[in-house]
Amino acid sequence: MELKIIKTENKKAKPTGKLGFGKYFTDHMFIMEYEGGEWKNARIQPYQDLHLAPSASVLHYAQGVFEGAKAYKNSKGEIRLFRLNDNLDRMCDSAERLCMPTFDKKFVYDAIKQLIFIDEDWIPTDEGTALYIRPTMIATEPALGVHASKTYYMYVIVSPVGAYYAHGLAPVKLLVEENYVRAAKGGTGGHKVIGNYAASMKAGENAQAKGYDQAMWLDAKHHRYVEEVGAMNIFFVIDGVAYTPALRGSILPGITRRSVITLLKSHNIKVREMNVDIRKVAEAAENGKLNEIFGTGTAAVISPVGWFGYHGKDYEVNKGEMGEISKMIYDELTGIQNGKYPDKFGWVDIIKK
Ligand code: PLP
Ligand code: COI
Repeated sequence: MELKIIKTENKKAKPTGKLGFGKYFTDHMFIMEYEGGEWKNARIQPYQDLHLAPSASVLHYAQGVFEGAKAYKNSKGEIRLFRLNDNLDRMCDSAERLCMPTFDKKFVYDAIKQLIFIDEDWIPTDEGTALYIRPTMIATEPALGVHASKTYYMYVIVSPVGAYYAHGLAPVKLLVEENYVRAAKGGTGGHKVIGNYAASMKAGENAQAKGYDQAMWLDAKHHRYVEEVGAMNIFFVIDGVAYTPALRGSILPGITRRSVITLLKSHNIKVREMNVDIRKVAEAAENGKLNEIFGTGTAAVISPVGWFGYHGKDYEVNKGEMGEISKMIYDELTGIQNGKYPDKFGWVDIIKK
């Protein structure tokens, strides 16, 4: 398929000051359309609103999937993409889960590269910033019957971003959610589908109303085993061993999670992927054995957890400060992403040297 390029004649002003997360969008976007069993009309075009019928099935039945990846520009002027292939693999898995078409991953990868080159001057360079890449696929068929759409848009927008949490790397406070659940086995929790996020908002808002940053999810059956957090996977360091919930279908298989497991193991830190019982975590906190908790995600990077609330009680973690292991993993992961550290696991594609 050919990739058409239509450049804007009205470049927008770049943001000044704090970027925050996902508030600004560059001058261009990638889009292609699925119809009659194939993708067509692939193009990079000026960033613009979508043409969508009010009856489009994504708007009614949430047949939509997305991804989140990042490109970095360092002081040498290199543009570095982190594990984008893994995001495109996961996107195709998510699409299959929702009866949506997959796509030629190499074609889309190359189109994203082109988009980044065209909007290169939007890539921020300050410490902790990146160009966030948001591939998205939505069902566009104008039909109210509940069935898989016959038509789709697949598009990619990019956004210069800073820290996901307003207070940056400062430790967050999580509330263990004991009533609502995010996902059950057999559902869609293990895929990056848009409905998961709508279903999670109530618990997030409840947590915030009580002074916490986010909810920590427990499993749907026992309300006892930790799953993940709003937009990140989670690690607990207890007595020097790193525990993270095993992937059993209801947790998003995070690419940062996978990278962090590799990094921890490379430092000979034991990693156990298993059921993590929140009662045992609380017990460890009480016995002084809970060393650190941190979340992992593309947007959140490594996010230290300084406190968690469970069953009416607040527990402090590492005196409310970022722990040694969290800091080491943060430095190493971001170092690999921006080129300060060697890319010894082959995670980075330097698309411009
Ligand atoms: N869990 C959820 C629900 C997420 O939305 C994300 C973000 O993508 C993650 C975990 C972390 O995944 P990744 O490390 O691939 O960004
Ligand atoms: C990401 O980390 O890329 C995410 O998708 C999180 C997002 C829901 C803000």
